[in-house]
Amino acid sequence: MRDGKHAATLLAWYDKSARILPWRVSPQDRAAGKRPDPYRVWLSEVMLQQTTVVSVRSYFHRFTDAWPTVTALAAAPDATVMAAWAGLGYYARARNLLACARAVVANHGGRFPTTANALQTLPGIGPYTAAAIAAIAHDEAATVVDGNVERVIARLYNVQTPLPAAKPELTALAARLTPKNRPGDYAQAMMDLGATICTPRNPSCADCPLATGCQALMAGTAASLPRKTPKPEKPTRHGIAWVALRPDGAVLIETRPARGLLGGMPGFPTSDWSDAPADTPPISATWCNTPSEVRHTFTHFHLRLQVRAAMTTAQPARGMFTPRDAFAPAALPTLMRKVWDAAQSAEWPQRD
Ligand code: ADE
Repeated sequence: MRDGKHAATLLAWYDKSARILPWRVSPQDRAAGKRPDPYRVWLSEVMLQQTTVVSVRSYFHRFTDAWPTVTALAAAPDATVMAAWAGLGYYARARNLLACARAVVANHGGRFPTTANALQTLPGIGPYTAAAIAAIAHDEAATVVDGNVERVIARLYNVQTPLPAAKPELTALAARLTPKNRPGDYAQAMMDLGATICTPRNPSCADCPLATGCQALMAGTAASLPRKTPKPEKPTRHGIAWVALRPDGAVLIETRPARGLLGGMPGFPTSDWSDAPADTPPISATWCNTPSEVRHTFTHFHLRLQVRAAMTTAQPARGMFTPRDAFAPAALPTLMRKVWDAAQSAEWPQRD
């Protein structure tokens, strides 16, 4: 099959099979002239980096209900936005989200730039996100390559080079396929094909609109592609988390440094995370260990936290006591919610 034919076939499939997504303008509405809101496209793409459609849906609704425009989001307090993001992970995305919204308001009159090149100058917008926004919101024939698209292309052309080395090759092949006609719908069609048919395991080749041109299907290699160079195993780091309560119920909370993991997010004070964490509690108290340690996996390591709990009236060396009615576990990152849950099973010692 010629490359141009693939795009036309895929667009015809998308017209029938497009997923209904809260940030999406359907192919029928798009054909009738409806344009996607660049703000909603941008917000969805930032949320969808490293996160599944299923997890993103409710956050997307919450954000667009609270902040219907980029101007509204730009004016929101940092802590409110970080709390709304809590649980989505990769918190640098949320900090960049705010920085980007504020840059759009300050430098672009509250309107997103329209080209992929200009979009890439904004905080948190890399080549993938810039291409996706330019294609989806503005029908620029930008080549949009995410993990789904890499998989589709590797199979379509039976590319045996393992990832990540295969990236340039896959991007070049993807660029050749990108049509001038309806590039926004085409980009979303590729994403849908990768998410629903050309899935990582057990692809549904019998239902695939591109099956007749798929070189991996012909060679019997589809399910094994894309190949991946094995990643080194993640190391395990250790740490201690201290949950300190005051007798009036206030909870000792510390905002983590802006840079680094969980940057800018509130949480319980912890030690460093290493092979031998320093046992320096944030406040003087008689600590009790909770029976189970908290386990959490970050991109580059596993973490095991011993959780210690105490009731105390001392002054903290780090962090601030938050009154119990202002303390919302839902505003904490997932790791810290696990720590809070573990602390509930502590046998609280007598207060000092
Ligand atoms: N994954 C990343 N961006 C997406 C989009 N716009 N629609 C569906 N899935 C996606």
